[in-house]
Amino acid sequence: MNITFLLNGESVELKGVSPDATLLNWLRDTQNLNGTKEGCNEGDCGACSVMVTDERGARALNACILLLPQLHGKAIRTVEGLAPDGKTLHPAQEALITHHGSQCGFCTPGIAVSMAVAHLNDDQNHDDALAGNLCRCTGYAPIIRAAQSIETTPKPGYPETSPGFLFPKTSSGVPEGRGADSPPLTHAADSPPLADPADSLASVPQTPSDVYAPETSDDLADLYAKIPEATLVAGATDVGLWVTKQHRPITPAIFLNRCRDLQDITETATTLHIGAGVTMDRVHRLMDTHHPSYAEMIRRYGSTQVRNAATIGGNIANGSPIGDNPPALIALGATLHLRFRDTRREMPIEDFYIEYGKQDRYPGEFVEAISLPKQPDTLRVYKLSKRFDQDISAVCGAFNLTIEDGKVTNARIAFGGMAGTPKRATHVEDTLLDRPWSEDIIAAAWDAWHQDFTPMSDMRASADYRLSTARNMLSRYLLDSLGAATNVLEVRP
Ligand SMILES: Cc1cc2nc3c(=O)[nH]c(=O)nc-3n(C[C@H](O)[C@H](O)[C@H](O)COP(=O)(O)OP(=O)(O)OC[C@H]3O[C@@H](n4cnc5c(N)ncnc54)[C@H](O)[C@@H]3O)c2cc1C
Ligand code: FES
Ligand code: FES
Repeated sequence: MNITFLLNGESVELKGVSPDATLLNWLRDTQNLNGTKEGCNEGDCGACSVMVTDERGARALNACILLLPQLHGKAIRTVEGLAPDGKTLHPAQEALITHHGSQCGFCTPGIAVSMAVAHLNDDQNHDDALAGNLCRCTGYAPIIRAAQSIETTPKPGYPETSPGFLFPKTSSGVPEGRGADSPPLTHAADSPPLADPADSLASVPQTPSDVYAPETSDDLADLYAKIPEATLVAGATDVGLWVTKQHRPITPAIFLNRCRDLQDITETATTLHIGAGVTMDRVHRLMDTHHPSYAEMIRRYGSTQVRNAATIGGNIANGSPIGDNPPALIALGATLHLRFRDTRREMPIEDFYIEYGKQDRYPGEFVEAISLPKQPDTLRVYKLSKRFDQDISAVCGAFNLTIEDGKVTNARIAFGGMAGTPKRATHVEDTLLDRPWSEDIIAAAWDAWHQDFTPMSDMRASADYRLSTARNMLSRYLLDSLGAATNVLEVRP
């Protein structure tokens, strides 16, 4: 695949790009741009942060799990290109010096990039903007002071952030072909495939690289039906780790980020329709308006860099039992929209998860969207993780109860981290229905938790801890609904 992008203001064209080439390796190994550091190589530390700009604006992303084909048609700035003239320092770099925001300096380029993006976007929520940039030696107070000191400093004039700037033109995303040595087809669900993919493969020409970047979901549907064994790559915050940590081949790979129609959010009087390609950063902003507790959980979903890349479709499709969206979506009564060629089907999202590692998705079928019925906001999402910021959940519980005349008239409760799949607590829900909404309800539901869940013990939490915290979350929901202070942030100074 040939790709074109801007690197620190200069046009770059790469031919025959491999699907698993990371931006970080390319910058360091071929461009001698060693300011972008490799720390964890798995999206956790932010040492590799770069600024990526497209028509949606500038974002900080982790270069270690950013695959080169994702950059087609975009503009990238590394720490070396933060000052547009390439000679002076960016105000963020000046401020880190002035405020003693650096000691060993390993984290500093990534921190300067995150600060520069926040500065460009008038984002003054410095704690969140920098939560994905780990610093082992300086401590955050001087770094935050540095970020605050440039809030009103004039912004650098990057050409790519000027209105009307034309990003590099992209080549066609039309299917190019399938390699002769592709692996055998795999079936995610027991159900038979909707079509025999072998029939259609004969008509697909071969290409040496097996990298595809369709421009529309129609093209994607056609292509994926032809090569159902392909790896779909959306934000690559999971797939990137398959590459860097598991050294797993992802060829043939279909990159979804150019399918702009998968990135739409449509709001009607009754429904929120969210395309599979919508990033978690945008879901965060959407939920801020509709379900603030869900938004507050997303604030702790990875880091700014991860949320800027990760998509809601990737989080649903990966089937992780500790993915953070599914519990909230189940509690909201969301509908999942799947597509194979022009055949679409939909299901309550909880039905998608069959068992650990197995979802109700046919070969060649992809997640197109998720839709939520609009409703009064009674949702609360409680995420428990070992570290408050940027950590995977040990347990994530979502509660959505309707209380009328002092009684529970509707209950949807779902959990991540309590079973091999995200799972609804149907026995607990049944116990709550028609009962008075009071403290007695906690005892009444006590045994039902055992009927719903047999959690496992692992490095994140023991089975007992998981079960007792799930029960405690119901108490928290009760106290929350009665107006008590339950937010752990309330203990902050
Ligand atoms: C540092 C770090 C922190 C993280 N923190 C969290 C966290 O707090 N909570 C959490 O839930 N997750 C977390 N994750 C996991 C990950 O970010 C999410 O699961 C993310 O939403 C995946 O989306 P993606 O677009 O990056 O998916 P990708 O990595 O591109 O793909 C993930 C999987 O979904 C498939 N896929 C993608 N899109 C589609 C589609 N439209 N249809 C069918 N299949 C598709 C891919 O083939 C792949 O199997 C974290 C990851 C990292 C690296
Ligand atoms: S090297 Fe740690 S996030 Fe990329
Ligand atoms: S200055 Fe050493 S890690 Fe931040």
